Amino acid sequence: MIHPVIVKMNKITKHFPGVAANTDINIEVQAGEIHALLGENGAGKSTLMSILTGLYKPDSGEIFIKEKKVNFKSPKDAIFAGIGMVHQHFRLVRPLTVAENIILGSQSTSFWLNKKKINEKIKSLSEQYGLAVDPQAKVWQLSVGEQQRVEIIKILYRGSDILILDEPTAVLTPQESKDLFATLRRMADAGKSVIVITHKMQEVMDAADRVTVLRGGKSVATLEKAKTTREKLAHMMVGHDISFNKNRRFSVSGNTIIKLENIRALNDKGLPGLKDITLHINAGEILGVAGVAGNGQRELVEVITGLRPTTHGKILINDKDFTAASPEKFIEAGISHVPEDRLGMGLVPNLSTVDNIILKQYRRQEGWLINYKPLRTKAKEIIEQFDVRTTTIDAPVKLMSGGNLQKLLLAREISTDPRLIVAVYPVRGLDIGATEAVRSLLLKQKMAGTGILLISEDLDEILSLSDRILVLFEGKTMAEKLPENTTKESLGLLMTGTQSLQEGIA
Ligand SMILES: Nc1ncnc2c1ncn2[C@@H]1O[C@H](COP(=O)(O)OP(=O)(O)O)[C@@H](O)[C@H]1O
Ligand SMILES: [Mg+2]
Repeated sequence: MIHPVIVKMNKITKHFPGVAANTDINIEVQAGEIHALLGENGAGKSTLMSILTGLYKPDSGEIFIKEKKVNFKSPKDAIFAGIGMVHQHFRLVRPLTVAENIILGSQSTSFWLNKKKINEKIKSLSEQYGLAVDPQAKVWQLSVGEQQRVEIIKILYRGSDILILDEPTAVLTPQESKDLFATLRRMADAGKSVIVITHKMQEVMDAADRVTVLRGGKSVATLEKAKTTREKLAHMMVGHDISFNKNRRFSVSGNTIIKLENIRALNDKGLPGLKDITLHINAGEILGVAGVAGNGQRELVEVITGLRPTTHGKILINDKDFTAASPEKFIEAGISHVPEDRLGMGLVPNLSTVDNIILKQYRRQEGWLINYKPLRTKAKEIIEQFDVRTTTIDAPVKLMSGGNLQKLLLAREISTDPRLIVAVYPVRGLDIGATEAVRSLLLKQKMAGTGILLISEDLDEILSLSDRILVLFEGKTMAEKLPENTTKESLGLLMTGTQSLQEGIA
């Protein structure tokens, strides 16, 4: 079989002030393949694809599309050459319909004249590629997954045959991700070139034909998926070995730290957000909470940390009633919160690393006088112990990378010796190196006897870290499972409110 090279990027270099985002990168993408662009955060993936779509001009290097040298001056030129990109943040006009959004992206004549034809074309594209959307629906009514499908159809509608998706599964449920990759496969089978930017190894192994690995702004290699392993890819991605350890589970489960009995709470709209939630977390265990975002996770976290009042039920910490206690009382009882919004709720962006650590410590000192020097020494110890990388501990934390921020936040919380850590999407947005570091910090804490409530959308993470798994759906517990007795698919179904047929009750 002949696979013509459709995209050839040759020695692409692009530097921003102080950052070598891309240096001499080479990549060739063929017709009819799904090509993964794999790399840690900051590896240069988005920059490279922004060059391919005409958003950035490279400092040097050449681009060939179908063997013709191109010199894009704007995204329009790239579109004209048949290139389309689905960005991480969608670019749809919310008050308009699906059809209106789709034709906005094409240069064709008046919408009203061709309404019927347009709808027909959208229908046939959506059937051909398995992209279910209603052309007449308004975009604001659509789920995130549906909006993504609109973005894809928009690109297909204008006849593009090179399709780029930037971290497309970050916003999808497992089932939606599966459907997306089925669609991408159909597109590749139809002869299109599909480039998927990702930092998830599993996606590469599941769905790609070939993969190009970027590290530190350089291309490491392009490989056939069938001829490589995740260990090899991970090694190329980070430059050293990564262990995908499977022997994580030792049950060290001890006394019950916190117990929720029939808890109800309202959401921010004043509607029932939690409906009779009963759960408990023991010392030395990780309770994983799986669910599509918005099914009660936030309310649950806020109830468990004392931030949100309950309307029914009982909260017991160490067998003492905390149902109406203040957030300070929860903190005093050893409940620690690693929030989703690291720079909003967790850390103070303009304060230094040292001050952010001290912030939590000085509360524990008596009186108003802060003894700064020992706190500073302690902060330095924490930073070293947890391998938080910062140029100087006196620089504002907003300058740190996401991975280091999260390590700092965890380090600070762990250093207060908590009994329960509530970790909310703890590795969201982190690259594989930082992800591994954060997960091993959590596991270490668990082994040391801390209870952990882990909120996550990543089912691989939930399955590999949790001792027990709770699935939340519409504010209720859909199921409780042991990781060894369930699968990703079954959890994915439960997350959408579907009871799995074969499994019955765990
Ligand atoms: N517009 C920009 N201005 C300055 N630096 C940038 C810009 N875009 C990206 N960078 C930097 O270039 C590097 C590569 O970023 P990016 O291409 O977004 O990586 P990836 O998509 O692999 O996470 C990073 O260090 C990033 O901070
Ligand atoms: Mg990116």
